[in-house]
Amino acid sequence: MLQFDDMYDNKVMLSFEYLPFSEHPKHVWVICKYRDTWLLTKHKNRGLEFPGGKVEQGESADEAAIREVKEETGGIVDMLYYVGQYKVNGRDKTIIKNVYFAQIKEIEKQAHYFETKGPVLLQSLPSNIKSNNAYSFIMKDDVLTFSIQKLREKQFIN
Ligand code: GTP
Repeated sequence: MLQFDDMYDNKVMLSFEYLPFSEHPKHVWVICKYRDTWLLTKHKNRGLEFPGGKVEQGESADEAAIREVKEETGGIVDMLYYVGQYKVNGRDKTIIKNVYFAQIKEIEKQAHYFETKGPVLLQSLPSNIKSNNAYSFIMKDDVLTFSIQKLREKQFIN
């Protein structure tokens, strides 16, 4: 288990075990690849981030991951791979989130993108994300760093 602080000084616990904190997490986050590019979304308030959100009533976390990717980017998930789970002890509440990796087979234009401005394709993730105002706070803690490292180890990415 990995532990670190996020940019709000909240404690974050990250594990690559299967569902270590909750069997029914209420949040999901999906690191997406479309061909050779990363697929992100531009959240209206938070900025650039990988898509994600809340699990709805009657939905599994995996289903929520697939739905959120489509709603926020138009991306159609080809393969969804569970990466890990993290827990953030916030000031008011604790949230538990599944991290996934998804291969996207196509990007379908959507009539609207909910709370985002739609898909953003990037050749590479900049090395200055932590200090880059264009990026959302959820991209700025070590969940991203360690998850990318894990995906490299598993050879899902180069
Ligand atoms: P509502 O319930 O719709 O009001 O949502 P909310 O704005 O309270 O946010 P949410 O329940 O998604 O998250 C609550 C708090 O948890 C946020 O304000 C953040 O501090 C924290 N949080 C949520 N997601 C993440 C994440 O991916 N990473 C980190 N580090 N913190 C997160």
